[in-house]
Amino acid sequence: MAAENPNILTKNYGVSESWKIENYERQGGYQSLRKALEMGPEKIRDEVKAANIRGRGGAGFPAGVKWSFLKPNPEKPTYIAVNADEGEPGTFKDRTLMEKDPHRCIEGFIIAAYALDVHTVFCYVRGELVLAIRRLEQAVREARAKGYLGETVLGRPFKLDIVIHPGAGAYICGEETSLLNSLEGLRGEPRLKPPFPAVVGAFGAPTIVNNLETLATVPSVIEFGGDSFSKMSRLHHLKDGGVRLYGVSGHVKRPGVYEAPVGITLNELIFDYAGGVRGDRKIKAIVPGGSSTPIVRPEDKVSAADEKHILHPWHGKSHLDVPMGVDTMRALGTMLGTCCAIVMDDTTSMVRVAENLMLFYAHESCGQCTPCREGCSWMARLCRKFAAGTATMNDLEVLNDVANNIMGNTICALGDGAAMPMLGILKLFRHEFEAAVREGRAPKEIAA
Ligand SMILES: Cc1cc2nc3c(=O)[nH]c(=O)nc-3n(C[C@H](O)[C@H](O)[C@H](O)COP(=O)(O)O)c2cc1C
Repeated sequence: MAAENPNILTKNYGVSESWKIENYERQGGYQSLRKALEMGPEKIRDEVKAANIRGRGGAGFPAGVKWSFLKPNPEKPTYIAVNADEGEPGTFKDRTLMEKDPHRCIEGFIIAAYALDVHTVFCYVRGELVLAIRRLEQAVREARAKGYLGETVLGRPFKLDIVIHPGAGAYICGEETSLLNSLEGLRGEPRLKPPFPAVVGAFGAPTIVNNLETLATVPSVIEFGGDSFSKMSRLHHLKDGGVRLYGVSGHVKRPGVYEAPVGITLNELIFDYAGGVRGDRKIKAIVPGGSSTPIVRPEDKVSAADEKHILHPWHGKSHLDVPMGVDTMRALGTMLGTCCAIVMDDTTSMVRVAENLMLFYAHESCGQCTPCREGCSWMARLCRKFAAGTATMNDLEVLNDVANNIMGNTICALGDGAAMPMLGILKLFRHEFEAAVREGRAPKEIAA
């Protein structure tokens, strides 16, 4: 099947010097802002709700519903904090928006700010993404010079400032409350919730935290109308609307970022978009949406056991033939996450994969919660032992126990994000850990 490209979010990606304001305007840029200003804040919020945009940052919370939770405080300003930290391993979609179409991002921020009566937007960008930061900063300068923001927005008495704030390279600062702490100059440690940021966020003021792609989608919602935008999805009936960016990396022929309707399958993403598996080898496992999401395998089928209501239409099909949506992936026992898949072929050692992942989480745990601080480094040490061939069968039980004791016992989801893939790998590939004990080694590559 030919890959379907809606060419909405990525329509400017091929335009020469697409990041410059004159080129963006030539492609129809900032027309959605003009339309939005005519519509007024309430109608914009209604359209965003009707668009059924499930947050593109990982948790998949509906953007329109989140906006409705905002609780303005007469004593404080209201803020938007854009999450462009993009630290999840295997995830590189927001980066393309910032680098190739920064004005789409800025237009989305302005419309969102107008809809929520926000006069300052903070955009927190992963520090390593230097080009993205420069492009956003330039876009802010250009938009200000052209009157899209500043003391007024296109002549309306609406003052707006956008601050591009580079992070300093910590994965935890992508977690929304750590991001707020970091923005305030504090240690990037998660806050207890409640209160949620929509009530007490940046600098103690109500704050909407949204992923960058979530907000960069808003100009298209205004252009097409919320309902029409939502219906571009194959999972509109599950209130999972629109089009989105899919990342695909690992053992595929054409890794990259592709735009597609919500609800394409992993098989479509890998074969129709990414050109199939390198060397036409067999797929062994896929991390579906960033490293924190449990892996899926082609041979696993939607069975009577996992036949939750929403999976009913795909009964008997491979997990790779189920449409990728927030609720469908959850029903499969994994998560859609950031919608950026890592594909592994049949030469991959899952012990080495686990080792690699756990070293990352051990390094990135902020250390605030004991189960995560101790548990992630414990899991990493154990995985190292399996990889080196010095582990015992008892270590397998300990690994399982440690992972289970992290789950649900921490302030933020980083610990769960480490334990879930660990438990998933242990469940599906326990035999590789046992073989590492028996054989006293875990090969770097498995001979086919
Ligand atoms: C450890 C950790 C790291 C995260 N990193 C990011 C990130 O880099 N970018 C992002 O948008 N969301 C990230 N999130 C999710 C955010 O906490 C939050 O859910 C998201 O920014 C909300 O935006 P959305 O509703 O538009 O998806 C992370 C969460 C955790 C627990």
